Amino acid sequence: MLDHITALRERFDQALAKADTPPELEELRVAFLGKKGHVSSLMKGMKALSNEEKKAFGLRVNEWKEGVEQALAAAKRRMEEAEIDRLIHGAKPYDITLPAVPPLAAAARGSYSPITLVQREVERVFVSMGFTVEDYPEITDDYSCFQALNIPEHHPARDMQDTYYLSNGQLLKTHTSAAQNAIMRKYGAPLKAIFPGRCFRNEATDACHENTFFQMEGMMIDESISISNLIYFMKTMLSEVFRKDIRVRLRPGFFPFVEPGFELDISCLICGGAGCPSCKGGGWLELCPCGMIHPNVLRMGGIDPERYTGFAFGLGLTRLAMMKYGVSDIRDFNSCDLKKLSQFIAE
Ligand code: DAH
Repeated sequence: MLDHITALRERFDQALAKADTPPELEELRVAFLGKKGHVSSLMKGMKALSNEEKKAFGLRVNEWKEGVEQALAAAKRRMEEAEIDRLIHGAKPYDITLPAVPPLAAAARGSYSPITLVQREVERVFVSMGFTVEDYPEITDDYSCFQALNIPEHHPARDMQDTYYLSNGQLLKTHTSAAQNAIMRKYGAPLKAIFPGRCFRNEATDACHENTFFQMEGMMIDESISISNLIYFMKTMLSEVFRKDIRVRLRPGFFPFVEPGFELDISCLICGGAGCPSCKGGGWLELCPCGMIHPNVLRMGGIDPERYTGFAFGLGLTRLAMMKYGVSDIRDFNSCDLKKLSQFIAE
């Protein structure tokens, strides 16, 4: 039996000397220390021995077993250290003073969405005219999105905004006007604020309709605000953003929260007014519905309509980005197609 141990020890030592990868070490461990390995079969062989012999033999087997465990652990450590050494010293040398490869550098830096760019542009213009920029959540409730805007339940105007309702009764805001009530309550009158935001409607999509789009709402409330104030601010904003003369037209429009209400259209910049899919062939694009805030809306916002008047507008930011950058299909914005979306730069 003792000869048996000596023979196995030699076998182990030879195999260990040859093993130079962690899987080979593991194979060795299983062969010697595993359930059906050499050590356990030595132990099984002890049954036939006398008690005296068992004691002496068991001691030797255990000694050797410990030796095997230690040798395996030491070999594993050596292999790990060699691997670390290889990673540190064996890697290709590099020069940190060299510039990054240009295409990689450009890709890593990223770029702004054209919508962010126009949003900032419009914000800059309005901030310079004394407006504050407000934030408002994308999830809101029926009261803020409709009722506080003079659109009671069952009002037909709701049909124009096919709404995504959530199972808890809340909804995804269909227009930035949903923030009007909260902002009137926050500041009272006088007030000058713009509030950009993402809006959602269950729309059939085409070149000029998307289910997810951006608007920029604005409100100015003070004593004796009139339609001429509205026209002045709209014209200033558009000429600043486009940096050229833009043809606009104002025609009557109906929105329950304004009285009177208007549609402000701009001549389509994609086709120059001749008519194309982006403007549904009409040559004009509805860009900014607007109007004088309805007295009911002021009242629900806690503002006295006898004393104050105001205008509001809902600028289509996504449409503005299309016009400004000549994007002919609104669906490109949500396409995640970086080839199309990463080529815009701020002016
Ligand atoms: N919220 C309206 C929409 O998305 C647009 C709108 C119309 C906003 C008139 C206004 C406004 O502030 O005065 O359809």
